[in-house]
Amino acid sequence: NAQVVTTTLNTYEAKTTISKHIYGHFAEHLGRCIYDGFWVDEKMDVKKQGRIRLDVVEALKKIKIPNLRWPGGCFADEYHWRDGIGKPADRPKMVNTNWGGVSEDNSFGTHEFLELCGLLNTEPYVAGNVGSGTVEEMAKWVEYLNSPAQSTMTELRRQNGRQQPWKVTYWGVGNESWGCGGNMTPEYYADLYKRYATYARNYPGAPLKKIASGANSDDYRWTEVLMKNIPRNQMWGVTLHYYTLPTGNWSGSKGSATAFNEQEYFKTMKNCLHMEELVQKHSAIMDKYDKEKRVALVVDEWGIWTDVEPGTNPGFLYQQNSLRDALIAGTTLNIFNNHADRVKMANLAQTVNVLQSIVLTKGKEMLLTPTYHVFDLFMGHMDAKLVPMNFTTPDYTNGNEKIPAVNASASLDSNGKMHITLVNIDAGKDIALNISLKGKSYKKVNGRILTSRSFTDINTFDNKNKVIPAAFNGATIGKGSLNIKLPRLSVVSIELE
Ligand code: AHR
Repeated sequence: NAQVVTTTLNTYEAKTTISKHIYGHFAEHLGRCIYDGFWVDEKMDVKKQGRIRLDVVEALKKIKIPNLRWPGGCFADEYHWRDGIGKPADRPKMVNTNWGGVSEDNSFGTHEFLELCGLLNTEPYVAGNVGSGTVEEMAKWVEYLNSPAQSTMTELRRQNGRQQPWKVTYWGVGNESWGCGGNMTPEYYADLYKRYATYARNYPGAPLKKIASGANSDDYRWTEVLMKNIPRNQMWGVTLHYYTLPTGNWSGSKGSATAFNEQEYFKTMKNCLHMEELVQKHSAIMDKYDKEKRVALVVDEWGIWTDVEPGTNPGFLYQQNSLRDALIAGTTLNIFNNHADRVKMANLAQTVNVLQSIVLTKGKEMLLTPTYHVFDLFMGHMDAKLVPMNFTTPDYTNGNEKIPAVNASASLDSNGKMHITLVNIDAGKDIALNISLKGKSYKKVNGRILTSRSFTDINTFDNKNKVIPAAFNGATIGKGSLNIKLPRLSVVSIELE
C-alpha cells in the first residue's frame, strides 16, 4: 500500500527565478579531472580539439552546463597563473602538493581553460589565489583576462594569441581560506578579501561578480563575520562548502562508493539532507545583513565524498558513482531550487574522474554516471520560476531513526511548461502524490525516471547503461489534478504542457 502525499502547485505563486547557475560544475587540477579527463595525451586516439577531449565536451553540452569553476579548490591557492601561459614547452613545472604530490606541467592554463569554456558554451568561474599569491598577481590576471586597453598584460595576452578580452565574470577571491587556502580567521580573511577585491578591477563590459570564500559546513560564525565586515556592494556572493560523507567522518574511512548496506545508505542520505539545514541557517544569517538578498549564497563545492576506488591513488579522489549518488544529486538540487531566492550558484565536485563525477573516463572509453542523468532530468528548471511546493512527507525509517522520504521542486518556464522533479529516497516503499493544480491549466504530461533495483547499482565500462533514464508512465493528469506514483529509490522528472 503506497503512502499518499497531497499538495498544491499554484502557477500564480511562481515568482523567484531558479538561476541556471545552480547547475554549475567544478574542474580542479586534481587527479584525473583536467589531465587525462578533459585534457589528454596528444596521441590518444579520440576526437579532440588540440588536447581537449570532445566526447566529454559533447556530453556536457547536452546538459548545458552553465558554468565551470577552475583551477581549484585547494589547488587555486597555490596556482600562479603566469606559469600557465606562453609556449607549453617553456612553462615551469610545479608539484601539486595538495593532490598526490604529482608533477604539474602547466600545459593546461588560462588560454586552454577558456578555450574549453568556449567549446562547452559555458561561463568560466575562476578562483584567484589569495593563500600564496599577491594582490598584484590577482590584479594582473584580471587585467590579462578582461582589459581591452593597451598595457604590458594585454600585449602579453595578444602575443599568446588572444586579441579580445574574454570578459570573465565570476571571480572567486580565494578558496577555503579557513583551511587549505591559508588557515585564516574570518576577520583576517574579510580584511584580505576587501584588499584583493579592490584591485580585481571591473574593465569595460566586464564587471566582475566577486565571490568571497565562505564557510565550511556549519561554521556559521564565518558567514556572520563576512556579512558584517564586507560591504554588500563589494561582494556578489559568499560560498558554502559541504560534502556528504557516508560515515560522517573525515578521519578514517569515509565509506565505500559501491559496497554498502541499507543502514549505511540511510546514514548517507541523512547526511545529504543536512544541506537543507545548512542553507536555511546560513541564509538566516545573511538575511540579517542583507534583507534584499543581493548577496548570493554560492554552494560551490557539494557532493558525496567516499573512499577512493581500491587500487587508485588516494590523492586522486577517484570514486565510482551509484544510484545512491543520483538520489543525493536530485535531493540536493531540489533543496537549492527551493531556496533559489538566496542560492544563486552551486558547483558539484567534480566534473570528470574526481569525487561525485558526472563523467568517468578510462583510456579512450567514457561513461555517464547516474549523477549525470539527474542533471539531464533537472534541465527544465534552469532559469525557470520556482513554484513553491509544500507538503508533509512520509518518513523513511531505519531502526529508531527517520528522515523525509520524498523531496521535490517545481518551476514554470518561459514557455509556460511546468517542470516537477521528485526524489523518493525510501529503499522499500513507493509513494503516491495527489497534486492539485491551480492557475494555468495543463493537458499533457511527460515523464522520465531514473531508478534501478539496488542503491548500489552503477554504470561500468562493461555496462554503461545499467542506470539510465527511462520513460515514466506513473503520472496521470486530470482536470486540475496530477497523480503520481513515485517508485522507491527513484528520481522522476515530470513536464506538464
Ligand atoms: O574538491 C576537493 C577539495 O575539497 C577542494 O580542493 C577543496 O576546496 C575541498 O576541500
